[in-house]
Amino acid sequence: MLPLPPTTIVGVVGSGAMGQGIAQVAAQAGHPVLLVDARPGAAAAAIAAIATALNGLVDKGKCTAAERDATLARLTAVDALADLAPAGLVIEAVVEDLEVKRRLFAELEGIVGPDAILTTNTSSISVTAIAAGVARPERLAGLHFFNPAPLMALVEIVSGLATDPAIATTLFDTARAWGKSPVRCRSTPGFIVNRVARPFYAEGLRLVQEQAADPAGIDAILRESGGFRMGPFELMDLIGHDVNFAVTRSVHAAYFGDPRFQPSLIQQELVEAGRLGRKSGRGFYDYRPGAERPPVPAFTTGAQPDRVVVRGDLGPAAALPGLLRAAGVAVEEEAEGQADGPGVLVVDGVTVALTDGRSAGQRAAEDGIAALVLFDLALDYAKATRIAITTRNGAPYDHLTTAASLFTALGKAVTVIDDAPGMAVLRTVAMLANEAADAVMQGVACAADVDTAMTKGVNYPLGPLAWAERIGLARVCRALDALAHVYGEDRYRASALLRRKIWEGTRFHD
Ligand code: NAI
Repeated sequence: MLPLPPTTIVGVVGSGAMGQGIAQVAAQAGHPVLLVDARPGAAAAAIAAIATALNGLVDKGKCTAAERDATLARLTAVDALADLAPAGLVIEAVVEDLEVKRRLFAELEGIVGPDAILTTNTSSISVTAIAAGVARPERLAGLHFFNPAPLMALVEIVSGLATDPAIATTLFDTARAWGKSPVRCRSTPGFIVNRVARPFYAEGLRLVQEQAADPAGIDAILRESGGFRMGPFELMDLIGHDVNFAVTRSVHAAYFGDPRFQPSLIQQELVEAGRLGRKSGRGFYDYRPGAERPPVPAFTTGAQPDRVVVRGDLGPAAALPGLLRAAGVAVEEEAEGQADGPGVLVVDGVTVALTDGRSAGQRAAEDGIAALVLFDLALDYAKATRIAITTRNGAPYDHLTTAASLFTALGKAVTVIDDAPGMAVLRTVAMLANEAADAVMQGVACAADVDTAMTKGVNYPLGPLAWAERIGLARVCRALDALAHVYGEDRYRASALLRRKIWEGTRFHD
């Protein structure tokens, strides 16, 4: 299948934030673009805004003046939907309302030619439902860009029940020809990104609700240990709590109240208070003039340890002994020990272990370890600048300082959180991978596309499935089982596909 040739006229309906960006992308790719909006003058204003954006690119040397002029010459504001008659591809980006979109496509069908492809940029409405209102639903698909469209590489190509696979392939190839990273998915609530990303916010909110840590602490851990560009709270503040809460509610409702997607009372309260995030001046953080982000306190520790004993295989934390040696700490590795995973570091009588999903209290009791401190998963222990640790409530304080000294010896900040099962990074990554696995199991998208969607659409440092494979699917499943056991909630049930992969010894990625 070939992409649509640049001679194909692209019609964009709705010239708001998304329509404007999409029109720019299509025009930069060489297509003549017709832009229409219900508000008089809005389409012309959007083209003026595109001109300003292109001027900025010229100033930065990212586009030549000739390219800017050629792009602008391809953009035309038109007054009426009927003016889209010559379009071979129509991209709808009007208000997020099923009836409005249905009416619009029904009207468009009578305007465009028989071969024109109709697409919607909806982020939450079923493409199948939108297409149910047209005579030829096979030529209607979702073309879901991310905001801002000129910068974000991901485009979800969404097939409704009736979408012709050949149309989806043409759209896929066209998005790629436009320099985007397209993925294919079936029209299911939240498509890929808005579904698989839910636990990133939800687990952070749960940890705050349980008073395991404060938002600034969790943000710092997810950023500096997890490698995420932003922590969940600063990201929700940026997106806007009204928008983020509405997406969670709509996905929760669309999955018939599945507890995996349960919205948070904390976020609801922020919405009710009008604390919508950056745009309203306050969210989890204060953005009013003069307000400063509270610093995240770093835990202070005792002296650098002289000697550390490594017992067993440290699994994802296997880099630690080498890093400690390089930092001048004597490391003694005991050969015997369990083969996989539950390896530990022992320093001054304190056992320091990577969380396996159980709380320190549970693990200390079950495994008979009196002095136990857990640390959180890091994307890369060499690069992480902060590590979270925890111990059971009531444990002597010097257990924490002793364990923390291991990480401060490596130049890392340490954040102590309460004894929440799975801590922050492991819990978040396990739940992201779990959701991704279910999406694959249900045929929403293939594993490669799910991971691409999460790295290109929300800038995760690693796709959730690739991350799960890196730390071991069995470890992810154990963490989920531990969470399910403690909370007794269906929310933490492990995906059946995850279990199947473990039993079969197969992988999501080859
Ligand atoms: P917006 O509110 O900025 O723009 C919508 C535009 O559509 C307005 O200019 C409005 O005048 C126009 N409009 C409304 N009804 C119309 C009609 N019947 N005919 C022609 N024009 C009409 O909204 P935004 O943010 O650009 O969203 C548009 C679509 O893109 C929605 O479906 C939304 O869910 C989706 N989307 C939004 C993203 C975002 O981050 N804002 C991201 C991805 C998708």
